[in-house]
Order: sequence, then structure tokens, then C-alpha cells
Amino acid sequence: MTDTLPASEAPDPALAAPDVATGAPVDADVIGELARGSIRLIADLQTPQGAYPASPTFSAYVGYSWLRDGSFIADAASAAGLVESAGRFYAWCADVMVRRAEKIRWIVRETAEGRPPAPSHMLPARFTFDGEDGADEWWDFQLDGYGTWLWALVEHLDRHGGSGEAFREGVELTADYLIASWDRPCYDWWEEHAQHVHVSTLACIAAGLDAVARAGLIAGERADRARSALESIRELVAERGTADGHLIKWLGSTAVDGSLAAAIAPLGFVDPRSDVARATIEVLESHLSVDGGVHRYLGDTFFGGGQWPLLTCFLGLAHLAAGDRARADECLEWAAATATAELHLPEQVTHHLIAPRMERPWIERWGTVATPLLWSHAMFLRLGIALGRIDPSDLASAPEGEPR
Ligand code: BGC
Repeated sequence: MTDTLPASEAPDPALAAPDVATGAPVDADVIGELARGSIRLIADLQTPQGAYPASPTFSAYVGYSWLRDGSFIADAASAAGLVESAGRFYAWCADVMVRRAEKIRWIVRETAEGRPPAPSHMLPARFTFDGEDGADEWWDFQLDGYGTWLWALVEHLDRHGGSGEAFREGVELTADYLIASWDRPCYDWWEEHAQHVHVSTLACIAAGLDAVARAGLIAGERADRARSALESIRELVAERGTADGHLIKWLGSTAVDGSLAAAIAPLGFVDPRSDVARATIEVLESHLSVDGGVHRYLGDTFFGGGQWPLLTCFLGLAHLAAGDRARADECLEWAAATATAELHLPEQVTHHLIAPRMERPWIERWGTVATPLLWSHAMFLRLGIALGRIDPSDLASAPEGEPR
């Protein structure tokens, strides 16, 4: 266990005002400055094609956009008033799907005939900015992002209006893919444990299918099938996706995962005021949160298994939705305190490593922790706006539109 950050990642003392251990409040200027920096970063780094890169600098991520990261980035951009930017990302997603229409129809057909294609023939988790599959080996079969982009699109349309007609074909194809495949084991949010069915993944799929059916972006028999899949997901999670009254990492497990907070908020798969939500928040706090920051899961060894600002913000959103504003505030402050002097938020920080000896091997393999990680900035914005501590109208002067 180490308590020291590499010098390059140590927060600038001027920005490190929050002391989450003592609960000292963060200067509103710090939050505001970081919010404006976050918006600038998201707007500046969006590609001409509409994709959001995961991180501009981290070796293993450069050149790729993930549906998972991108959808949450777009959701934050949408909430922050970058309406056009978010719309361009959803158009990029729709295009990615339409270009794979033949493949999706084949997957759906094969599955219906009892021959579900091997994971290597399913759709990938990340794409090049041009919307192509990557050339590098990756842990690609992940279903959550396909649900998340549908959910985020509908949030965007609800927030800012618009019919969504332009996205319809991409939405229908995505829904067909998910309806055919939702119950398959696949890699989780962390691109691990492909042999399991993950509860966070199910929550993303359910939220997406529910959203597009409610919004009328899918209709008729397709909407009926989506509702029936949604019902089956709910039953499955109720029967095999909980233990001791809380959500669990994968079906049949007893462990938890930081990503489960998203099922409560912002996805709303679980009612934030329900017993399951309360029990899930409690167990995430007691198992995964140390001095206010949230780990991915017990046993994590990636870069030593540090704490993730984006997960801390997801937990903050869950707390806020469940009525605990004070703890949600602390989550925002903890995340803000991880910013570097350049106002960059990292993927994780090393205050409390679960497996300190594993930090060095990862640095040798891929370089230092991904910083900035756009998804971290997105979740900071999303929680700050939900708390009313970031005012989207203050961010309005941020650049919008012109891709660089
Ligand atoms: C994380 C994924 C994330 C990707 C890009 C991976 O290390 O496990 O959740 O989508 O990085 O940020």
C-alpha cells in the first residue's frame, strides 16, 4: 500500500483544496475552473467524425472511441449544454451500426436459429474514429455500451427536444442486436471475466431498451420484443443478480463492483429509493470506498488497483438520487481533488492501492495511468450539474461546434 502519487500526477496544491478525510468544502472556483476545463477538453478532443477519444495520450487507448466511455461523455456534454457535440456523437454511433447492418442481421438470424456466433464474430467494444473495428487484439465482446448509447440518446432527446428520426435505423439495429444477445456472457465494464453475465451490463442493456421503447424510437413487434427482454432482465436480476438484498457483480457471485452504482443512477434501472438501492449503496460504501474514493472491485490489480474518480461520481449520483446530498457532495469533492495542475482528471489515483506491487508492471507495459481520461471529466461534470454546483449556463462560453 502506498500513499504517494507520482510527482506528475500529484494534485496542484492550489487545486487540492478538498480534504475529504476532514470533509473540508471545496472552493466553488475550483469546481468551476475544473468544469470549464472539462468542457473544453471534451469539445476540443471530439474528432471531426463525432467520436470522443477515451484519452488523447494513454498508449493503449490512443485512436479509439469506446461506446461505453463515449456514451457517458456525450450524456455529460448534453447535460452541460454541448448539444451539438452530443448529437454528433449519437450520429456517429448510429452510423457505426448502420454500416454493420448486414452483420447485425446475420448475428440475429444465426442466434434465432440456435447458432449464436462466437464472441469473436460479435460487435466490438471500441472503434477507430472512422468507425472501423480496431486492428489490435482487444477484449472486444462487451454488450453494455450498446445499451448505454441508446439510453444516453433518449436522455438527450428528452433534455433538448428533437424527434430522433435521424437515429432510427441505428437504434433499431442496436435494439435487434441486444434483444438477440442480452443474456450472453461477455466482458464487463473493465473488459474482464468474459465467462459471466454481469449485472451492470444487464442494467445498461435494460436502460437502453426501455428508453428507446418508451421514446417510440422502436415500434410494433420490435418494441414488444424489447419490452419482453426488459421484463426477462428484471426477473433474472431479481432471481440471480442479488445477494443479501444488494446487486452483485455477476449472476451467481456474492461480490460487488463499483459500476453497480450506475444501475441506480444515472441509468435508473433500480429505483433509487428501493431497498435494493439502499443495500447496494451501503455495500459499495463498506466494501469499495476508502476515505471517500471508490475502487472498482476487491482484488483489482490494474495499475495496482487504485480509486477511480469516475466511479466515485457514479456513487455520488446514486447517493443523490437516494436522497443523501451530503455524501454526493463529498464524492464530487473527492473527484475534484484528483485533478492535476493542468486540470486533468486521471482514470485512477494511487492513494490506496489494493495490490501495490502490480502498479509498476502496468506502468512498464502501458505507461503511467491514463490522464486525462475523458470519461472521468464527464462524470465529474454530470455529478456537479446534478448537484447544482456546476451551472451549465456558466459553461456556455465553452467552444461548441467546430471540431479541431
Ligand atoms: C477500462 C474500460 C474503459 C477503457 C477506456 C479500460 O481500461 O477498463 O472501462 O472503457 O479503459 O477508457
